[in-house]
Amino acid sequence: MTRRIRKAVFPVAGLGTRFLPATKANPKEMLPVVDKPLIQYAAEEAVRAGIDTLVFVTGRNKRSIPDHFDKAYELETELLEADKLERLETVREIIPPEVACIYIRQPEARGLGHAVLCAEPVVGNEPFAIILADDLIDDGDHGGCISQMVEQFDRHHASIVGVQRIPAEHSDRYGVVDVEPVDSRVNQVKGIIEKPSSQQAPSDLGVVGRYILSGRIFEKLRETQPGAGGEVQLTDAIAALLADEPVLAYEFAGTRYDCGDKLGYLQATVEYGLQHPELGPAFRRYLEQRG
Ligand code: G1P
Repeated sequence: MTRRIRKAVFPVAGLGTRFLPATKANPKEMLPVVDKPLIQYAAEEAVRAGIDTLVFVTGRNKRSIPDHFDKAYELETELLEADKLERLETVREIIPPEVACIYIRQPEARGLGHAVLCAEPVVGNEPFAIILADDLIDDGDHGGCISQMVEQFDRHHASIVGVQRIPAEHSDRYGVVDVEPVDSRVNQVKGIIEKPSSQQAPSDLGVVGRYILSGRIFEKLRETQPGAGGEVQLTDAIAALLADEPVLAYEFAGTRYDCGDKLGYLQATVEYGLQHPELGPAFRRYLEQRG
């Protein structure tokens, strides 16, 4: 596997039930952290890693995602006429013009593995990235989590899952890996299991929503039966891939916010609010005064 990573898949067909009623008519990936929807942070992370094709696997209520990345003629004209040029730039710069956005509809929400399989006709047999937008990763000046993983891919030419240390009592929220250390931050995956209990968990390394996978994963996904929660799990297909190919677990540098969870989402909002160039100082003063 020596090919360049050009495509990223964004599964955005989940129902987002943890955020109801906010997600009744809107996808959870459109929830904003300060002033940008989660899906835009994810798309920007991919673009920073040199990815030029963004593949969104959408479901019902997802029309706002294509709209967000599409040209908004009326809005642009209004902003231009009102001389709001900075805001116009913000709208125009959402995605660079050379980046292609492709939308695939997942007919039913049958799990993350099934959503990824829906992208096969576009991805084909090449290594590609997967980004789960509700895992928001702030890696400071490291260039983005997927950039870090692409760098590792260029070095090792193997599939890679992004992992972080998780508390034992949270293992039933993650895919958890069994590993052997290879290098600083890099581990060889020996096994992977979806949402194990703390007793079953093979380690304290949980997979977060960043993957670089070989095209062979599609072959494995086609054979994967519904697993945890009755859904077709990407984790189970990765476990099957291990029989044929090496898979690495990479402990990325950065802080991950679980924005699929209300507490994680609020934490991200506070941290990104504090870092915001215009809003940060006033927001910090507000929080300090509040005590
Ligand atoms: C999914 C994956 C799981 C992974 C997690 C990261 O689970 O199935 O392996 O650890 O994302 O956020 P979900 O959060 O969709 O239940």
